Amino acid sequence: MPDSVLRVLTCGSVDDGKSTLIGRLLFECGTIPDDTMAALERDSKRFGTVDGATDYALLVDGLEAEREQGVTIDVAYRFFETPARRFILADTPGHQQYTRNMVTGASTADLAILLIDARKGILPQTRRHAAIASLLGIRQVVLAVNKMDLAGFAESVFAAIRQDFRTLLGKLEFDRITPIPMCARDGDNVTGPSTRMPWYTGSPLLRALETAEPASAQTGPFRMPVQYVSRPDQGFRGYAGTIAAGSVRPGDRLINAGANTGAVVSRIVTMDGDLPRANAGDPVTLVLDHEIDVSRGDVLSAEAAPAVADSLDSWVVWMDETPLFRGRAYLLMLGTRTVVATITEISTRLDMETLEEIGARELALNEIGRVSISLTHPAICETYETNRALGGFILIDRLTRGTVGAGMVTAIHTRNADIVWHRLDVDKAARSSLKGQRPAVLWFTGLSGAGKSTIANLVEKRLHALGHHTMTLDGDNVRHGLNRDLGFSEADRVENIRRIAEVSRLFVEAGLIAIVSFISPYRAERMLARDRVGGGEFLEIFVDTPIAECRRRDPKGLYEKADAGQIRNFTGVDAPYEEPLDPEIRLLTLERGPDALADDVVAALRTRGIIA
Ligand code: ADX
Repeated sequence: MPDSVLRVLTCGSVDDGKSTLIGRLLFECGTIPDDTMAALERDSKRFGTVDGATDYALLVDGLEAEREQGVTIDVAYRFFETPARRFILADTPGHQQYTRNMVTGASTADLAILLIDARKGILPQTRRHAAIASLLGIRQVVLAVNKMDLAGFAESVFAAIRQDFRTLLGKLEFDRITPIPMCARDGDNVTGPSTRMPWYTGSPLLRALETAEPASAQTGPFRMPVQYVSRPDQGFRGYAGTIAAGSVRPGDRLINAGANTGAVVSRIVTMDGDLPRANAGDPVTLVLDHEIDVSRGDVLSAEAAPAVADSLDSWVVWMDETPLFRGRAYLLMLGTRTVVATITEISTRLDMETLEEIGARELALNEIGRVSISLTHPAICETYETNRALGGFILIDRLTRGTVGAGMVTAIHTRNADIVWHRLDVDKAARSSLKGQRPAVLWFTGLSGAGKSTIANLVEKRLHALGHHTMTLDGDNVRHGLNRDLGFSEADRVENIRRIAEVSRLFVEAGLIAIVSFISPYRAERMLARDRVGGGEFLEIFVDTPIAECRRRDPKGLYEKADAGQIRNFTGVDAPYEEPLDPEIRLLTLERGPDALADDVVAALRTRGIIA
């Protein structure tokens, strides 16, 4: 049983002949391809060594962790072996979503096979794959120039592609590149040499894979993100996780960097009994000599503790149809912790022709760029270069829970540690009690012409008459001042609402009832606004008017202009409106008039104890 293992990532599309290549490789090595989980389990059992068990656990852990978060993952792992070594092939389906699959499959790969159709040469997609592989820390690449039969087995075609790839190399951090001319369908240069390309004297693919260097295990100080706290009974308390870097022995002192506490390891527990030592990649349960404050998401570390980040710089590979915008918030999952994260800056993206960095303000589907992110709760992390497990993250849409991006940390900041939120003696409670009211945000959302401003205005008049202190923020007005610089692109609307969310928060701090009336078409930003104030202080009021009725009313003549193509990105015409899923108040304007609806809102404020 060979004990060296190489993890290989295959990148390319179905058209490049990837399935054929993999099928051929598995076939010639006597393994039958199968991509079900059951097969994965069977294969791992069959490999059966301690090493094999570890690998299996690693893979399964990765999948498990993502499944828990509801993240879809479409990487199939295939196992095969030769007398020289065993291989784990991450096969990422090459359809539209290839980037997502690549990133999820690549984070543990030692080598990437970039598939190229000899007739097409290096395509933007090839450059993208190469850039991602490089950013993910893969240092060895096989350039599999396939379908040479369709290029007349011509050396010149192969040489031109090889040369073309060389021009990119300055931008990529590869240590070893092996270009191989192939015809995977017939087996040329797959496991043995090709009689049809005698001019090629290098290794066939399998030999190149057998002689590649497995990336060294994560060295450096010990790190283990805690997956869960195991407490089967009163007498046992252990911390379970997969070791991300370094090694551990009983007697080692570990600290929980986030909580500034520490203890000494007393046992390393596994399914197969206690271990005298465990290394990077091993799934273990650690028992400490005394109880300290550790929970899921914390990181147990050797004395040189990793940083506690409240913001970070990163490379992000964007995988969603909706672009990445500055100001928008996502869930960021790093190690075993998930926190809310806001995009504070998008500075550059890679040009897919040249792999140069160029200025950017947003990232579209499959684009790769430099992004700064601020975290609502600190996370223990390291740069991706230092530690893949604590430096790699995924971004998750807060509403759909789908994976929308993957990132690699390049720098960590704890700058907010120095900006202490100034504690004031006169606070929100003092201000609102003087006004004899509970502060709140009444957030009116709905289409243009739905009646938001009309009803909001009537509500404010009633509250004012009742002696309450209010303040109104209205889209049309604020866009003449504070948000004068913003238009109606998606990015600008995100920023529009982000600012308004912050201003309404300040009004709440002032003890006021803020009446906010904006289309605010995106759920994500309304959620952000809700998060900025305390529980019970935010009321989402959906002014629910069917678009046909808004068009009929068309108070500003804007629908007519939008239909005539004179205004672009008009909500409900050529820009989306995401209806609230669970608003505190829904106002059906077809059923009741504005005065009655304003009364309804005031009544709802009474029921909720916001006003007496
Ligand atoms: S939001 O989408 O960013 O929340 P906001 O409420 O500030 O929009 O502004 C909406 C108002 O701007 C509308 O009531 C309308 O008067 C005006 N407007 C001008 N162009 C557009 C447009 N393309 N889409 C929507 N509203 C527009």
